[in-house]
Amino acid sequence: MREGVRLVRRGWWILLLAAVGGAGCALLVTGHMPVKYAATASMMIDQRDALSQQRLKSYAGLVTSRRLLLEIAVTERLDPAALAGNVRAETVPGTVLLRAIVTDSDPARAARVANRIGDELSGLIHTLGNRPAIKVAVIDPATVPVSPVSPKPPINVAAGILLGLVFAYGLLMLRSRLDTAVADSDDLAAAIGAPTLGVIGRDRRQPLAVTEAFRALRTNLQFVGVDGRPRSLLVTSSGTGEGKSTLAINLALAVAQTGRRVALVDADLRRPSIARCLGLEPAMGLTDVLAGSARLPEALRRWRDVDVLPSGRIPPNPSELAGSPGMLRVMSDLTADHDLVIVDAPPLLPVTDASVLATVCDGVLLVARAGRTRRDALTQATGQLGRVKARVVGGVLNFAPARPRSPYPESRMTFR
Ligand SMILES: Nc1ncnc2c1ncn2[C@@H]1O[C@H](COP(=O)(O)OP(=O)(O)OP(=O)(O)O)[C@@H](O)[C@H]1O
Ligand SMILES: [Mg+2]
Repeated sequence: MREGVRLVRRGWWILLLAAVGGAGCALLVTGHMPVKYAATASMMIDQRDALSQQRLKSYAGLVTSRRLLLEIAVTERLDPAALAGNVRAETVPGTVLLRAIVTDSDPARAARVANRIGDELSGLIHTLGNRPAIKVAVIDPATVPVSPVSPKPPINVAAGILLGLVFAYGLLMLRSRLDTAVADSDDLAAAIGAPTLGVIGRDRRQPLAVTEAFRALRTNLQFVGVDGRPRSLLVTSSGTGEGKSTLAINLALAVAQTGRRVALVDADLRRPSIARCLGLEPAMGLTDVLAGSARLPEALRRWRDVDVLPSGRIPPNPSELAGSPGMLRVMSDLTADHDLVIVDAPPLLPVTDASVLATVCDGVLLVARAGRTRRDALTQATGQLGRVKARVVGGVLNFAPARPRSPYPESRMTFR
């Protein structure tokens, strides 16, 4: 049921398109369908002894008989076989009533033929000879029908819409089976087993744009684990290029805007990007502190109210450094002086650095790229974090498509 609701929410435009398309096709087909009118003549069979239903049925058979219709077809200049196909007889159970129903593209001719059948049935029964006492009286002659019986545009359009919807729903189900990339915040939460704390739209102004989405994420972070609120937060993801560094920078800025002391550490010792993104001159950084060639206060750089610790020189043994006692010391020094320490990490699946770093941070924020990050990659990444007993506080869906249908796209998890 929930799956169905999600499918509809995500593919509502496909359903809408299919409904409109279905209605359009139905109208098109309806426009090409021949217009048909039906006229009915009701007859009563009068006979002295009781008339069995059996016999009434056999009289009904006469209505569509070739013998009766042949002459009518000749005078009306109709093909006898076609006429036979357009004539129907109906008995009314429990009565001696018989109806001849004639459909025709010409309403007047439909009525004329129905009445001729009524008139001639009596004669035919007489010629058959055996029942002279039988009288057939037309009690309700056919009148010229005003509206056609077919086509019926409302019914056709409704059927078209229904067919379109069924077809589109099938397509949506197929798409969700084949597509294993996270598409929305529900997908992400389900894959990582933790709430989605932020949804960041695709935005070319990145990396330095503290939008409402980042402020919402900042707010949500205040509520994760009310007592054991993370003082140090590792930002990572399953694969590369999912927006970890961008997120780490903007989150640091957003938190700094509230007046809290924030440190931002570039712990991606393989492909560092923070210093480059912020336009900081290459200088000492984390690796220099870990190697003992610099002290922490010397390596920290002030940038827009954020204390930034760049990566420093790229070392030959990044994962070893990440798990070194020095790293633990750097983290405890930083958390002592700051309200929040944000650590930008490499991706989880290709290298072990992030798992190691997760052990020296209070919480992990998992970034996923909408439409790209695979659900199984996230499951694998969370499994890896689980094995080192790291605490995943939540996920952030990055590169989320704009969702015009929701007036509050980024505030689904905010508590104001
Ligand atoms: N929400 C966004 N909208 C548009 N572009 C974005 C968004 N987030 C990140 N980007 C861009 O995507 C690219 C990759 O981002 P970023 O470097 O932050 O990813 P990463 O996960 O840190 O990558 P890596 O795995 O290499 O460290 C950058 O060019 C960045 O500007
Ligand atoms: Mg990065």
